[in-house]
Amino acid sequence: MKISVIGCGYVGCVTGACFADLGHDVVFVDLDPGKIIAINAGKAPIYEPGLDELLQKNSSKLVATDDLADAVSRTEITFICVGTPSKQDGSIDLTYVRSAAAEIGRVLKEKQDHTVIVKSTVLPGTTEGVVLPILETESGKRAFIEFGLASNPEFLREGSALTDFFTPDRIIIGASDDRSRRLLEELCSPIDCPKMITAIPVAEMIKYVSNAFLATKISFANEIGNICKQMGIDTAEVFRGVGMDHRINPAFFQSGIGFGGSCFPKDVRALIAKAEEVGVEPKILKDVIEVNEEQPLKLLELLTAHLPDLDRKTIGLLGLAFKPNTDDIRESRAIPIVETLLRKGATVLAYDPMAMGNFRKLYPQINYVPTAVDVLAADAVLITTEWKEFESLSYSGKIVIDGRRIERARNGSIYDGVCW
Ligand SMILES: NC(=O)c1ccc[n+]([C@@H]2O[C@H](COP(=O)([O-])OP(=O)(O)OC[C@H]3O[C@@H](n4cnc5c(N)ncnc54)[C@H](O)[C@@H]3O)[C@@H](O)[C@H]2O)c1
Repeated sequence: MKISVIGCGYVGCVTGACFADLGHDVVFVDLDPGKIIAINAGKAPIYEPGLDELLQKNSSKLVATDDLADAVSRTEITFICVGTPSKQDGSIDLTYVRSAAAEIGRVLKEKQDHTVIVKSTVLPGTTEGVVLPILETESGKRAFIEFGLASNPEFLREGSALTDFFTPDRIIIGASDDRSRRLLEELCSPIDCPKMITAIPVAEMIKYVSNAFLATKISFANEIGNICKQMGIDTAEVFRGVGMDHRINPAFFQSGIGFGGSCFPKDVRALIAKAEEVGVEPKILKDVIEVNEEQPLKLLELLTAHLPDLDRKTIGLLGLAFKPNTDDIRESRAIPIVETLLRKGATVLAYDPMAMGNFRKLYPQINYVPTAVDVLAADAVLITTEWKEFESLSYSGKIVIDGRRIERARNGSIYDGVCW
């Protein structure tokens, strides 16, 4: 099939490269010329293990352009993969979705047999209540009759996105017309996993509830971790036992300094805003965010217990990405930590194997060092991302405050963990 992918971030880039690998012809579209040049050169614009290789392997089946109209007119299916960030008040910002839909709609005016799939994370009601009317107005055609429209939310995890695409836990297809449903079923047929066909708003809600539940699990693990620390109980051992219950499952029970990334914080906030809009007080969801915001500051409380005056002290940071195996720093827990350190007059020495370039754009004033070992020269070291290489450092003689439970760091002369 001929597929266009609008938006070449983590989701668009992975989706397009993987569909090309399944044999389809893919046209990537982005507004950012740097991303277009990178993809056409066989280089992913983001760091994702295996993605460069996949783009290079399938270079004859893919091309990137800034010409959305040409891309849509040359293809049968368009995936909308643009960003859906938070507004200041936490509600979802649909600017990119609206403008992509309007541009696609204008092409559909002159085009037969096209299907638009919304892959961006959007609140229930958005595909039918926002995207559909824009497409109909701009094209002068009727959705589900003269063009197809469906929802196919994405569940990939950065860092293991290719594996998640080819062997997902499930695929959710939100469709109300047979043609769109069949098309998505056919596209996904090489992927062996349960496929759930449902109404479009249900598909949209499944994505939010999945992220909200995972975020809840993390904040729950952190709150229990805070209690365990005060009681001298090993929280990791507690959750090993708790996770053995098949109704609970051990995943996402690592207590630490909380979740970041482009999805959990913004999706939970968007669900909170939606709940309030429909007259429901989302008590649990609000607490999930509150626990998450307090958690990185606990690392600094521990630091000042060992090093009371941070003014002119050099504090080392191991990890800037919001999690290992990505260069993504969106909502990274390192951000509030760096903010506070700078406010208290500390000098920050930072290292991350992948994310220093992105972090430097936000914080050019801190010192980036070429290796993790260089960070150990600081007066105290904070561990903020659990990169594997931090497991093999020699921490002896150092003050180490650990937010991610790196076992080897216990060799520090002073060692303290946020929840242990
Ligand atoms: N990153 C993840 O792990 C992940 C996982 C699942 C779902 N999602 C969801 O998928 C969506 C995309 O996420 P992302 O992390 O890939 O975003 P991103 O910000 O990394 O990328 C979005 C891209 O869309 C481009 N864009 C915006 N408007 C455009 C337009 N009109 N035409 C062409 N390109 C346009 C931007 O330039 C950018 O490159 C979001 O809704 C997000 O919540 C993300």
